[in-house]
Amino acid sequence: MSSYIIKGGNKLEGTVTISGSKNAALPIIAGCILNKGKTILYNVPNIHDTQMMYEIIKILGGTVQKKKNKVIIDTSKISKYEIPDILMHKMRSSVIIVGAILGRYRTATFSYPGGCDIGARPIDLHLKAFEKLGVSMSKSYGKITCECLEKGVIGNKIDLDFPSVGATENSILASVLAKGKTVITNAAREPEIVDLQEFLNKMGAKIEGAGTDKIEIEGVRELKEISYNIMPDRIETGTFLCLAAITGGKLQIEKTNPNHVTPVISKLEEAGCYIEVQKEKIKIEAPKRLKSIDIKTMPYPGFPTDMQSIMAATFTVAKGTTLIVENIFESRYKYVQELNKMGAKITVEGKSAIIRGTRKLYGANIKATDLRGGAALVLAGLVAKGITVIENIEYILRGYEGFDEKIRKLGGNIEITKAF
Ligand code: EPZ
Repeated sequence: MSSYIIKGGNKLEGTVTISGSKNAALPIIAGCILNKGKTILYNVPNIHDTQMMYEIIKILGGTVQKKKNKVIIDTSKISKYEIPDILMHKMRSSVIIVGAILGRYRTATFSYPGGCDIGARPIDLHLKAFEKLGVSMSKSYGKITCECLEKGVIGNKIDLDFPSVGATENSILASVLAKGKTVITNAAREPEIVDLQEFLNKMGAKIEGAGTDKIEIEGVRELKEISYNIMPDRIETGTFLCLAAITGGKLQIEKTNPNHVTPVISKLEEAGCYIEVQKEKIKIEAPKRLKSIDIKTMPYPGFPTDMQSIMAATFTVAKGTTLIVENIFESRYKYVQELNKMGAKITVEGKSAIIRGTRKLYGANIKATDLRGGAALVLAGLVAKGITVIENIEYILRGYEGFDEKIRKLGGNIEITKAF
C-alpha cells in the first residue's frame, strides 16, 4: 500500500484545473455497453475506479483504448454477461454496469457487492427497479442472475423509495432499449444523472427529466456511435475550495461548473471566504481563520454527502463549534478517529459530528479509511504542525486524478511513497 508524506504549514496558491467527474464517468462507461460498436469519451479521469470499469468491459469481451483522458470503448464483441466477483467487491459501484448489460443482452450475473467503508450499501432499490422492468432474479451462493430472455426489458413505472443515485442510473440504463416507456419517480437529481442523459440521448436514446425527480425514458431499438465529453468533477472542485479555505490560501479553480457546488460555496462564504464565480471558473480567497458553520447532508441539490468529511477536516481549525449531520450514509465518520489523532476535537453522536475548533493540528501517522475520508486527512496534514504520514492512500487514488501533483503545483508539501 502507498502513503502520502505531508509537511504542513504552506498556503495553497495558484491555479488548478479540475478533472472529469468520476461519478459521471462510471455510469457513462457502463452506458457504452448499450451501443454495439465504438464510443469515444473525452475528459475521462485517469483514476483507479475508471480503470476498474475498463477491466470489466475487457473481461466481458469488449476492448478499451486509453490515451490519457481520451478513451475509445468498443463493445461489439462482448460475449459474456457475468461481472467477476473480485471486481464487484473491489468497486461497489460496478453494480451500475448491470443495468446496461441487462438492457442490451437481457441477462446479467453479478455477486452481491456487499458493504464498504461508508455503510451497508444495499442494492434493494436496484433489484426492485429491475423487477418492475420484467426482469426475473435468481440468487445462489452470493450471486444474482437477472433474466428477461423472452420479452426483453418492458418499460414500466418505477417509484424509488429513496432518491438513490445508483438505482436511478441503473433504471435509466436498463430502460434505454426497452419495449415501451419507463417513468422513474422520486429519482435522484444529481448533475451526473443529467450528464448520463445527455450522453445517452446523443447516442439516440429518448430520455427527459434528468435533474428533476421524474425521468421518462421512451425505449428505442438501437443507438449509434458517438463521442462525448464528461462533465467536470464537482466533488474535486469542492475539495480544492476547501484546500484553499483550510490553508488560508488563494486559488483559481478552472474547467469546472460553479453551479454544481452552490451549497459548498455558500457554506464557505458563510465561514468568511471571498468567492468569485465565473462561467467555468471559481476564485476563492480564504480568511486567516474560518468561522464555524453547521452542515446537514441531503440528496442533490442539498449539501453533498461526499463533501462531509472534507468539510469536517476544514473546520477542525475554525473559530467556534461546527455541527455536521450525515443523513445519507450510516457510517461515514470513520475518518474522525484519524483526525483526532492529529489534535482535532471531534465527537460523533449517531448521525452527528460536533467539531470544536482548535488553533492547531499536529502531524501524525494515520490511515485513510475511505475515498473522501482519505482526502479529508490530506487537508488536515497540509495545515498540521510537522509531518503527517497517511497510509492506505489507494482509497484516495480511486477518485482523485493527480491529487498530490496538483497540490504540489499549488505549493503544498506532499510526496507519495510506493509500498514495497
Ligand atoms: C453514489 O453512490 C456516488 N457514487 C457516491 O459517491 C455518493 O456518495 C452517493 O451516490 C450519494 O450521492 C457514484 O456515483 C459512483 P445512493 P450510490 O444509491 O449510488 C441507500 C464517492 O465518494 N440505498 O444514492 O451508491 C444507500 O445505502 C461516492 O464518490 C439503499 O438503501 O449512492 C445510502 O444510504 C461515495 N438501497 C443512500 O441510499 C439501494 O438499493 C444513498 O445511496 C441503494 C441505495
